Amino acid sequence: MYSLITNFISNIIKHKIININKLFNNYLLKLNNYKQLHIKFNTVKLSTILKIPNRFKIILMVLLMIISSNKNVIASGGDSISQKVNKIISQLTLNEKISMIHANSKFTTGGVERLGIPEWKMSDGPHGVREEINRYNWKPAGWVTDSATYLPTGTALAATWNTNLAYDFGKVLGSEARARGKDIILGPAINIHRSPLCGRNFEYMSEDPYLISKMVVPYIKGVQEQDVAACVKHFAFNNQEYERFKVNEEIDERTIREIYLPGFKAAVKEGNVLAVMSAYNKFRGHWCSENKYLLTDILKNEWGFKGVVISDWDGTHSTVDAALAGLDIEMGTNVDSYNDYFFADPLKTLVENGTVDVEVINDKVRRILTSMFKSKVFDKNRSHGEFATKNHFKISKKIAEEAVVLLKNKSHILPLNKSTIKSIAVIGENAIIKHGAGGNSSGVKTKYEITPLEGLKNYLSDEIKINYAKGYKSTTAFVSQREIIDTSEQNSDFKLKLRKEAVVAASNSDVVIMFLGLNHYYDVEGLDRKDMFLPYEQDKLVEAVLKVNKNVIVFIIGGSPVDISNWVDEVPVIVQGWYDGSEAGNVFAEILFGDVNPSGKLPFTFPKKLEDSPAYKFGDFPGKGSEVEYKEGVFVGYRYFDSYNVEPQFAFGHGLSYTSFKFSDISLDKKNIRQGEDLKVSVKIKNTGDVIGSEVVQLYIEDCEASVKRPKKELKGFSKVKLVPGEEKAITFNINEKMLSFYDVKSNGWKSEPGKFLIHIGSASDYIKLTAEFELLAALN
Ligand code: BGC
Repeated sequence: MYSLITNFISNIIKHKIININKLFNNYLLKLNNYKQLHIKFNTVKLSTILKIPNRFKIILMVLLMIISSNKNVIASGGDSISQKVNKIISQLTLNEKISMIHANSKFTTGGVERLGIPEWKMSDGPHGVREEINRYNWKPAGWVTDSATYLPTGTALAATWNTNLAYDFGKVLGSEARARGKDIILGPAINIHRSPLCGRNFEYMSEDPYLISKMVVPYIKGVQEQDVAACVKHFAFNNQEYERFKVNEEIDERTIREIYLPGFKAAVKEGNVLAVMSAYNKFRGHWCSENKYLLTDILKNEWGFKGVVISDWDGTHSTVDAALAGLDIEMGTNVDSYNDYFFADPLKTLVENGTVDVEVINDKVRRILTSMFKSKVFDKNRSHGEFATKNHFKISKKIAEEAVVLLKNKSHILPLNKSTIKSIAVIGENAIIKHGAGGNSSGVKTKYEITPLEGLKNYLSDEIKINYAKGYKSTTAFVSQREIIDTSEQNSDFKLKLRKEAVVAASNSDVVIMFLGLNHYYDVEGLDRKDMFLPYEQDKLVEAVLKVNKNVIVFIIGGSPVDISNWVDEVPVIVQGWYDGSEAGNVFAEILFGDVNPSGKLPFTFPKKLEDSPAYKFGDFPGKGSEVEYKEGVFVGYRYFDSYNVEPQFAFGHGLSYTSFKFSDISLDKKNIRQGEDLKVSVKIKNTGDVIGSEVVQLYIEDCEASVKRPKKELKGFSKVKLVPGEEKAITFNINEKMLSFYDVKSNGWKSEPGKFLIHIGSASDYIKLTAEFELLAALN
């Protein structure tokens, strides 16, 4: 209370001009969250509240503070969290406990006002706080203050290979969640890119469990240090959208341990994540939301997870099975009344008649309260967060800058030189489209999003003439949640007209920059692509443009690889731009003209064609009927391309720079190590070019004498290093036995085998510059 008033006054003094509307709305939010005043924003339109005269608003604000100060403050005193939690549990009735373990609105679970336990408020999603929706339906609530910072999406973040940026990303997200009065942010989303076709790849990070693990931990820390719980999702194997509500995934034990679970394990054991969302799909015949092996045996027992398992929305299918398997909170079930939820009246009855022990419910409530305490829900000094600030957009921009991947730069065409160019043709619908709000649950209503064309105009003012032509139009439409059609088939005249306009623009310009790729009709929750081709006949557009101008730069927008084999050899410059957040357009312009030196690296393999990708090749994506068998096993992404000698279009880890780097002096601190011992690997890296730049030093390990078929090499270390021209730095990596091990199904544990190992250091999985060898010797018993 006291802190709210002082904060209120200091804000007025600090900002000098009093934007009462903004302040009023802010304080309503804070108070609502702080002491659960249940102000129903959804029933009163904000615009109505804003019409109240200012002096009444101030009086109302003070009144709200006074009311709130009379509310019960929970479990104060010097007890430990577990003592406090146990005390509360002993005071809760069964009804109250039940109210806490299922939704009571779209994004909240019930609170217990009597004891000062607020509702637990959740929000999507992984790359920005979602637009406020109505309490009881999915319609936008019509707020005017919920336009958030749109952060680059998961693949873009992973492409930075910069763990500090993952932390900053989390911090922005957590801070904005707090400012919006949220307790849990439904992210990070870290399912493996198993196939290029998965509609949610753009939200997810990578095909590589090591890269994911390294990025997810700082992301979670960033969020949770803002007094918000992160919720890592979707546990587990939600690697396709097709039939996601039905599909059963059969995956062998070694594969889940080596590929699909490490990111989640790191989130729990290193990130101390407070919540985990169970996936929609089944695993080995059981829904993930009632999969005892996943939720209890692995997550809670083996990894020691003390937080909360939340179902995905409408992903709960049973009462007893789910309750006993380890699900703690049921969300989004599609029934008429919240009392009909599996974890509402049905579960209560089963406790009352003795079928389910009340201790099962206590455990769930204990987890919820513990997570609440850990995210300071009851703490007067809980962070108030900040929303859509300049600084947040600055961080979004920094991430965007480091995410862009320069895939090809023939004859060093980039960076462009302003003084030698008079005109630029900017072509493609993706030059003018905003993507932030798309993709479904992860969509962000943002304060602003700079499109590529706007970015170029901002950057160039009138210095260079820009000839814009759309070239194609996204004429797709969703037919159902599972299908989209390209309606453009029906008007070929229109398509030809757009293409012709583009050709005219290209022939009248010195340079052509094409913004092509996908959009959120394709990179979208609920749907997988059917093929890897560029939609809307973009291939034809490129080919037509190339006929009149060879100086073509293609910027690919999207979250998954696309088939560019038709023109890859003809186009001299290709850049992967992602869904790069609010500042995307400005960043792209700065990259094009060299103000920013690209330093992103692909977090997935970019295959030449779909047929080359392992899930396709082994014949099981997206499965048959509702069954999927991960026949490729551990050979996901570059693990497959490397081991089976399939040449990708662009390899995992690939990304060029405007400068050059030299790797040298690889050395190991020991020639041989014994099992249980560590090894240090040192290398030097030097910027041998003319401009400042960053390189990602990547370390891969090859096990030369394994008794099982292992991937040719696996990423086990990386370090992003920024160097000025001529500067050299030494990097040291620590290798431990776990990094040399595979998951042994016979002993159900990690196993290293004595023999020869190679350490490969490079700037991409297919560009190894240094290799060193050592021998692993058996431990002395
Ligand atoms: C998605 C989740 C999301 C939830 C709430 C589900 O459809 O799979 O990722 O958090 O909706 O919007």
